[in-house]
This record gives sequence, structure tokens and C-alpha cells, in this order.
Amino acid sequence: MKTAVGTFLLLLVINGVVSVEWKHSAVLDNNFLVLWTPDEKDVTFEIQVKTLGYVGLGFTKDDGRAGADMVIGWVDNNGQVHLQDRHVKDASRDPQMDSSQDYRLLLGYENKTHTVLRFSRRYDTCDPRDLKITNDTMQVVWQYHVEEPVSAAGILPDHGAVRGSRPLYLVQRDAQPRRNSRNQETDPPLKIWDILNKQVRLPMGQDTLLWCRVLRMPSINQKHHVVKYEPVIQPGSHEYLHHMTLYECRGDQAELESAAETTGGVCYVPDKPTFQCNTIAATWSLGSEGFNYPPEAGYALNPYAGPRYYMLETHYTNPQLDAFISDSSGLRLLYTDRLRGHDAGILSVGIDPNWRHIIPPGQPEVVSEGHCIADCTGQTIPNSGINMFAVIMHTHQLGRKVRLRQIRASEELPPIAADTNYDPNYQEYRRLQRPVKVYPGDHLVTECTYSSESRTAITLGGLGTREETCLVSVLYYPRIELSLCYSLPSLPTVLHSLGIQKLIQASSPVMIQEPPNLKGMTLEERLVSYDWESNFQSFQEATRSGTFKPLCGSSKGALPGTENLEVHYPRILRPYEEASVPCAKKPLRNKLSMLLSEDGDIGAPVDPDSDESNAVERGQLVRSKVSRSSDAGPTAGSSCGRTVSAAVILAAVTVVAGAAFR
Ligand SMILES: *[C@@H]1O[C@H](CO)[C@@H](O)[C@H](O)[C@H]1NC(C)=O
Ligand SMILES: *[C@@H]1O[C@H](CO)[C@@H](O)[C@H](O)[C@H]1NC(C)=O
Repeated sequence: MKTAVGTFLLLLVINGVVSVEWKHSAVLDNNFLVLWTPDEKDVTFEIQVKTLGYVGLGFTKDDGRAGADMVIGWVDNNGQVHLQDRHVKDASRDPQMDSSQDYRLLLGYENKTHTVLRFSRRYDTCDPRDLKITNDTMQVVWQYHVEEPVSAAGILPDHGAVRGSRPLYLVQRDAQPRRNSRNQETDPPLKIWDILNKQVRLPMGQDTLLWCRVLRMPSINQKHHVVKYEPVIQPGSHEYLHHMTLYECRGDQAELESAAETTGGVCYVPDKPTFQCNTIAATWSLGSEGFNYPPEAGYALNPYAGPRYYMLETHYTNPQLDAFISDSSGLRLLYTDRLRGHDAGILSVGIDPNWRHIIPPGQPEVVSEGHCIADCTGQTIPNSGINMFAVIMHTHQLGRKVRLRQIRASEELPPIAADTNYDPNYQEYRRLQRPVKVYPGDHLVTECTYSSESRTAITLGGLGTREETCLVSVLYYPRIELSLCYSLPSLPTVLHSLGIQKLIQASSPVMIQEPPNLKGMTLEERLVSYDWESNFQSFQEATRSGTFKPLCGSSKGALPGTENLEVHYPRILRPYEEASVPCAKKPLRNKLSMLLSEDGDIGAPVDPDSDESNAVERGQLVRSKVSRSSDAGPTAGSSCGRTVSAAVILAAVTVVAGAAFR
């Protein structure tokens, strides 16, 4: 059979079950589920949308829709599946067709309620109309409608589309653990420790509240590993929760015990006992769904060694000053006595939250850096190194980019993690694809880039929401003593960056002595009135090249010999240069004929790396997962092995001129 130009339809109707294991999934809105698996070169997606009209999924960098790379598809009345690579030129209008079609349809069907489309694409399609899928935060946009386009050309219905967008990590994402039925039978159920607040009342007329509650660990009589944790959010509280961090506490056990008998109080109040609760055990931030430890490591709960008290710090925000808000949210830790190979720890690297961290107003790019010096890693990391497997980045509202850099013996290695499209409202763990080794003597730098264009006044470092931070918390194993590895600009660096030569000794408020034209001005006045517009470059240089004070904290306090140091930026003789891979575009045409040729017998030899063989693999993937309902009855879908029972129309594809079928 030969076809010249036109539309070709291949129907493969199976009254059976198509089941594919997906690595990730996300509910975009209650009617829109996306599942995906990032592979070596391609990412395969499936969207399951509760509509019989058209559906669309896209990617963009910021939260505006303009510039979004979108794919639009539908199943028409003849059962034919359409998939179109498009882009959004003007946010108020529907996406327009790309001249280069770079999405590959793998499967599509409709049942009584849903439209399901499965397709794949390259990370980098080389089409400037498409967006590269990278490790950066991606804004995912979606769109669907009760109606289909009126014609195959795809003119979308005028009004009534449902649209949305949200940030997601597509690649460095915590995988959902496999939940197949066999595992569930052999693994004993996980034990649950709920660490919850108890009816915390947000104070009237206050937009930020830090609440701290001390808790005793569950009564266990042997070591356990926490293998997973998740937020427990009281319905309606979501908008008031900014972050929750669980710390390990040391110190007077009797005092901790009496604190644990209360429901907590406002954190860090002067004249109240403060506990030594410094080491992070678990942390949740806005947008995060929790964390699963990798199979080789878990967080140790040990009644015979290590802490017995923990403190939950909850950062509430209430920008609208809503009244009578009471919250009982917290964290749920899931633990087991089946110990894993290693104890995991959390290491926080960045800038000490302190006023010396200065962000001038009105600037598109301000770079701040926090250092974890070679002395700190040298004293604490064993010679065999530690393995970093996940990171969570943290800034407040001005953060735009974050990188965790690694310098070893004056050579800069590739960044451990980097996001050039960081979104402060989406702070989720990134699971590194491969653990990164850090050895004693490595120097780490957390580099944060802020945009302060929205601010007319200076922003200082601190814990408040209008203040800024620059932190990366890293999960690693095996656990070491170091838990906080911060730095802050030294006083001379701060003064130099503000054009001040000397302060008047022991003055209060702090006053300037030199240069003479500033004599008698207070430091605070200088901060507020400094002409950032003309001095920004020299400020930035002075901050980055000046000395800083390292702060290396273990659970027992500062590491010996690291207090009162003033250190310089490490020498980097071999800087890291990002390899730029040239983009080679391959035609999409022939592989479709391959995909459609009968039963994977493709005749001609194929280059194993080519698109063609990939497509064949996908064809097989689709087909090999098809089993008859008599073999395996439809089962309830779980979060990763989703099961579809339907008449399946496998790959109805629009084939362009010249594609030949035997
Ligand atoms: C239709 O497909 C969707 C998505 O796979 C599924 O959730 C739903 O249960 C199916 N409905 C019917 C009636 O089979
Ligand atoms: C993500 O980062 C890892 C490690 O740096 C790198 O190997 C990988 O290629 C990146 N993935 C993408 C899609 O850019």
C-alpha cells in the first residue's frame, strides 16, 4: 500500500490494558494529569485530561505565557489523533503552529470522559520556537477545552479554554517510589511520626510569624531510618505556610523535656531559653511535596546515640493580615527498622543570615556568595568523601538564580546544582541524577543572583520575608559532624563596598570617621543614602573580592580553629567552562514510517543512536506493555504504574510526502 501526501491512520484496537511505568507525575489541575519519564535524549510525556475537546501542554521560563512552547492535540470524531507543535506568540491569543514539528506522537485515544495523549521530544529540539528542557525550574502551562478545533488545521474554539501554569522540575526530580503490589506485601509498613503544630494562632496585624515547637522522638528501642517525609498541611493553611524545618536539639534534657510538654512559642525571643537546635533533620518549603531518601541511605533515629529532642520551626506568612487563622500543620516522617546502608545528613551552605549581606535596590543582577571553606570540609569529611544526592535551594523573593559550586585544588568542577530560572515560590528538593562526591579540602560556594529592580530601598540579609537569604541545603551520606557551613562578608569588606575607610571606635550608633566628607555620618545613614546607581559596580566587586568570615558549625558548636578567621576567595586557576553542544537537527519524517512498520521488523539496519531506532524502541515500548485483559485484569492505577483500559488507537499519524509503507 502506498500513500503520497495525506493523512494516514493506523488503528490498533486492543481490548486490553496498556500500562507503562512512569517516573514522575503531577496533577496540574483536578482534570489534568501529566506523567513523564526523562530518558537519555528524550522526555516522554503522557497527558490524561478530563475532556473530549482539545488539550495542550507547554513549557516556558517565566510565568507569562508569551514565548511558551506548546503542544496541542485532540482525538477527532473519526478517532484520528492530532498532535501539533505550537508556540505562544502573544499571551492573549492561542498558540500558533511551529514550522518545525518536533513532538512525536506515540499514542492517543479517548474514552467516555478523558483524552489521553502520549508523546516525546528531545531535551533540545534545536528549534528556536521550542524551549529547551533543562535542569532549571520550568514553568509548565496547560490548556484544555470542552470542544475540539473545527478542522484538522486546528483553529481553536474562541472562548472557554481552561488555562493554568505552575513551576515544576522536570528532570532533577524526586522519583515516586515504585509501588507495585509485590513490594507492598514483602515490605513491612512504614511507621509514622507526625510532627504537628497545635492550633497556632497567627497574631493579628503581623505578616510573619516564626513558631517553634520542641518534640520528643517516638519511643523506639532500636535504631530506625526515616526513608521518606512529607508535609501535612491543614486544609486552608497552604497560603500561610512558607517553610517548616525540623532541627535536632542538644543540651539540657530536662529543659528540653519540659519544653516538649508545651505546644511551643514564638522562636528566638530574647530572655527566653534558647535550645541548641541547629542541625537540620528535615525541611519543607513552599511548593515541595516532601522527600524520598534513595535506597542506599536513610535519616537515623537512634534512641541510644544522637538527639532525642527535635524542634519544628514553622515560618508563617500572612501578607493580607487575615484574621483568626489557626493552624495545625507539620511534617510526617515515615521510618522503618529495616536499616539502609548509610546514615544521611543535611549540610547547609550559604550566607549567614545577617545585615552584612547587602543587596542594593533597583538592580537587575546582584550576586552574593556564601563560602564553605576548605578548612571546614578538611576537618569533617572522611578521606573517602561524602556523596551528595539531593539539594534544596533557598532565597526569599528576590532570588533569580542559584548555583552550588565546587572548587578542588584551584580547579573549579562543574556545579553540583544550578538553576538559572529559580523561582522563590517553588522550593522543592532536586534529586541529582548521580551523587556528587565531595572530598576533604573541597571549597563550596553558594552563589545567589537577585533582581532588586522591584525595590527602592536596600535589602539586608535576615530571616524576615523582606530580608534575603542565600542557602543551599544538601542531603548526603555518610553523615558527618558539619551541619552549617556559612560565611559572611567581613567588616572591612562591607565598609569598603560602601566607600567607607574607617569607623569611629566604639561609637553608638556606629559613626564614620574617614573619608573626611563622610565624617559624622552614621553607618545606617550611609546604607540608606548611598548612591547605588553610580556605585553599584564597585560595590559588587568589593563584595565579591573582599575577605569574609567563615562559620563552620557542627552540632557541638564552631569547629576549632575556624573562629575569627578572615579569608579570601580561593584561587581558581582552572575555571569551569560549560561545554556548549552544537545543535544538530534531525528530520522527524522517516522514523514515523519506521514506527508504523509492522511489528518492529524494520528491515534496514539502523544506527543505534539515531532517532529512528529510538522511535522503534518507543513503538516497542508501547506495544510490549499491551497485554490482554484476560492476562491481567484492569487494576486500579497507582501513582506510577498507571493502568489504562480502553480501546487503544495506537499512533494515528499525519505522514508527510514520500513516506512509504510496504
Ligand atoms: C478514561 O481514561 C482516564 C485516563 O486514563 C481514566 O482515568 C478514566 O478512568 C477512564 N474512564 C473510563 C470510563 O474508562
Ligand atoms: C542536569 O545536570 C546534570 C549534572 O550536572 C547533567 O549531567 C545533565 O545533563 C543535566 N540535564 C539537563 C537536561 O540539562
